[in-house]
Amino acid sequence: MSDSAALTPQQAPIVTIASLAQHEGHTVTLRGWLYNIRSSGKLLFPTFRDGTGTIQGIVPKAAVPEEVFETLKNLQLESSLAVTGKVRADSRAPSGYELDVENLEVISAVSPEHPFPITLKEHGVDFLMEHRHLWLRTPRQSAILRVRATIMRAASEYFDTNGFIRTDPPILTPNACEGTSELFEMDYFDDDKAYLTQSGQLYIEATALALGKVYSFGPTFRAEKSKTRRHLTEFWMIEPEVAHLQLDGLMDLAEAFLTHIVTRVLEQHRADLKVIGRDVSKLEAILANDTTATPSSNGVAIPSSSSAAAQPSGSVASPSLLSSRSEAEGSASLHGSEISSPPMETTTTNPATAGAESASAARSAFPRLTYDQAHDMLEKAFAEGKIENPHKYGDDFGSPDETYLSSQFDKPVMVNRYPAAIKAFYMQPDPHDPTKALCVDVLAPEGYGEIIGGSQRVDSYDLLKQRIVDHDLPLDAFQWYLDLRKYGSVPHSGFGMGIERAVAWICGLDHVRETIPFARTLNRIYP
Ligand code: 4AD
Ligand code: MG
Repeated sequence: MSDSAALTPQQAPIVTIASLAQHEGHTVTLRGWLYNIRSSGKLLFPTFRDGTGTIQGIVPKAAVPEEVFETLKNLQLESSLAVTGKVRADSRAPSGYELDVENLEVISAVSPEHPFPITLKEHGVDFLMEHRHLWLRTPRQSAILRVRATIMRAASEYFDTNGFIRTDPPILTPNACEGTSELFEMDYFDDDKAYLTQSGQLYIEATALALGKVYSFGPTFRAEKSKTRRHLTEFWMIEPEVAHLQLDGLMDLAEAFLTHIVTRVLEQHRADLKVIGRDVSKLEAILANDTTATPSSNGVAIPSSSSAAAQPSGSVASPSLLSSRSEAEGSASLHGSEISSPPMETTTTNPATAGAESASAARSAFPRLTYDQAHDMLEKAFAEGKIENPHKYGDDFGSPDETYLSSQFDKPVMVNRYPAAIKAFYMQPDPHDPTKALCVDVLAPEGYGEIIGGSQRVDSYDLLKQRIVDHDLPLDAFQWYLDLRKYGSVPHSGFGMGIERAVAWICGLDHVRETIPFARTLNRIYP
């Protein structure tokens, strides 16, 4: 540990709470904050936090200098300090260790006149959001942010290690991608208007036709007037885009990608998930081989992450890449029992993703439902009194519909082929039923609803032009996008995953506002 190198005046190494196991029986110095303190006569029980964890200290009056005892006894919560003590294993302690305090140096004492506003008692959400800059210090919020960081790292790691090139789209854009009513508009010099990007998709379609397999990862913005637990006005989206990839391959990609992320979180964050109160068996179920849902006709039901990479650009698409509707239909089963075989060639195994690959090798596939099948399920659920309102065929699914659908499966469910009329202008129509779009929404289990939205893109110049006109979009602003269909157009597909929705699901949170350090919502832009 490099942190062992720095020595305090007492010659105790400065270490982190997370590394205490390596220092059992030794005297160390921790630099952190006073998270909590209890006293019982001549004993003090302070709890320290340092960003890597929390640990309880024991301070018998007789064991420390008089002024150390008195200072600590009167110290306000969240005062910053350096504490020196001996690390002792204690099986009853949540972290497995306690600190026998020997000395203490206060770095900055909180004034008793202005105590730390967040106490261990319950606070209302508005109060906590108003004090978000301080709320972040509590163990649960810190744990969520650590898991978020891993989700983001695992997400880019998946693409980085499977041959995707990261290409960053602009944030200031001249036109809409997802829906003109949800655009944040700003002046762009003289008479021009610019809009904050809703999705990098249109731009990474261009880079995908240049580089083959690409992804983008950045903030995106929606001026949505929705006040739901799933909507932010600023959120982070990771979006892959792949030339020569069709809808079935896209679903394989989404499955391998999510599997990798859940694998990494389970590998690295069991302690954090415990602090958050997450039932990890629900996450283990994502990776589990559920035999009741698995029987596969071909014995290779599971697309591994290695198979989910598209072929190198420039080579000819394999027949399975251009899989037919009948094959796709075969893959849409309520039980995920039939899945088209992995569509793409195997790339070299990368050690960084090997964990995900071995996990996925024993995994049953995520269920795939067509919009029509999902509608039938909702109709049945309504007839049985399981949902309040009937779903009208042709309409998008509302939040209660998604909640119902996703709570029917213990793995993410891939709802595909929605009516084209309710989806974006750029989606390729299903050749077997042009009223449907070759698109997929991935709904997370336990009622979390949509975490991924994606599609195969219109690749015909004439059709795309018609779509732009039909959607009342300005043709001149989309001329560059049309060019992509003029010069060597190919079938291509991509999706976007909202990081905050994924964090809410993986951490089992009620609301996306806790998934990002500083949430931006309809009625909040402070702090
Ligand atoms: O389904 P959406 O709107 O799809 C797109 O933007 C496509 N252009 C992506 C693509 O194909 N490259 O958004 C994608 C995902 C959603 O599934 C959801 O996870 C998240 O972005 N998302 C939001 N997250 C938080 N707050 C909001 N207001 C969100 N809107 C979308
Ligand atoms: Mg969507």
